[in-house]
Amino acid sequence: MAKHIVVIPGDGIGKEVTDGAVEVLKKADDIYHMDLSYEWKDAGGTAYDKYGVPLPEDTVDACRKADAILFGAVGGDQWDHLEPALRPEKAILGLRKSLGLYVNLRPVKIADSMIEYSPLKPEIAKGTDIMIVRELVGGIYFGKRCESEIVDGAEQAWDVEKYSVPEVERITRFAMEAAKKRHGHVTSVDKSNVLASSRLWRRTVIKVQEEEYPDIRLDHMYVDNCAQQFAIHPSFFDVVVTSNMFGDILSDEAAVLSGSVGMLPSASIGEETSLYEPIHGSAPDIAGKGIANPIATVLSAAMMLRYSLNEDKAAEAIEKAVNETLEDGFRTGDIYRDGMKKVNGEGMTEAIIDHLK
Ligand code: IPM
Ligand code: MN
Repeated sequence: MAKHIVVIPGDGIGKEVTDGAVEVLKKADDIYHMDLSYEWKDAGGTAYDKYGVPLPEDTVDACRKADAILFGAVGGDQWDHLEPALRPEKAILGLRKSLGLYVNLRPVKIADSMIEYSPLKPEIAKGTDIMIVRELVGGIYFGKRCESEIVDGAEQAWDVEKYSVPEVERITRFAMEAAKKRHGHVTSVDKSNVLASSRLWRRTVIKVQEEEYPDIRLDHMYVDNCAQQFAIHPSFFDVVVTSNMFGDILSDEAAVLSGSVGMLPSASIGEETSLYEPIHGSAPDIAGKGIANPIATVLSAAMMLRYSLNEDKAAEAIEKAVNETLEDGFRTGDIYRDGMKKVNGEGMTEAIIDHLK
């Protein structure tokens, strides 16, 4: 049966990198006969310029019907002055909420061959393989907020951090299931020494583990300590489960540990459909120059094949092709070192396609 993919390039380098990933998917389809079909839709600042809104209804409708969504990136300085509801970021936040994409998976692995790119000392970076499971449709991102009010003559603004037991239970179960397929270790990150919402988070995680996953090793860390441990002992971690806000910050920290943000994929998973996107943003400074590294989006497409389309073999083949392309010395500017083969985005895409079997 045909598998339908909605591609949302978005802004900045989003178009270049999704184009590259679709080329790789088409080659994989030739080999593995997956019967993939594609449809392109607008979102972000690009959509605002065309239709006056960052997330057109038509885009959301197409996503609802899709088997999976491949997303580039949104954002750019030219839209920074817009009111919050019209900003490009609203596109991705709106998609997460309206499609119920409650899990964000961000794997960060430092392969031995890429260890020199890490800002960490090699002996600290070695063996790092973290799966961050970030709650994506709750917490302070979607809580009540007030942009501005005057109280006792002073202007103030506020945002509410709130979690319910069912919200924490479902993200905990997802993290526990992920750990089962990995090394059986979950670290839950919170700020329960200060926040009531974190205390509910922690006791809910403990209850789910005790009642449903007694074989999973569970520990807890305060978010500030976790930020330190990522930098001094990253190989301690297997699966990290945390709230929307803490996950946003910690996943960026974990991403830079690899030294190659241009290579990290992510998946945002819901009950009905899921969305796959590179971790890096829209990088307006290099957009349109053709030099953006497509690897993060290519690897996101591989995650899509694995998690949404049940095409594990094709996913593995793409991941292998990326590894071999890197082993053969192909490098875009962001990861270039003397003596390696410097290529632009298109060159990297072609090299990956040549390696794909
Ligand atoms: C991310 C991004 C988004 C977030 C922004 C663009 C709203 O930083 O996917 O991590 O904060 O979740
Ligand atoms: Mn972020």
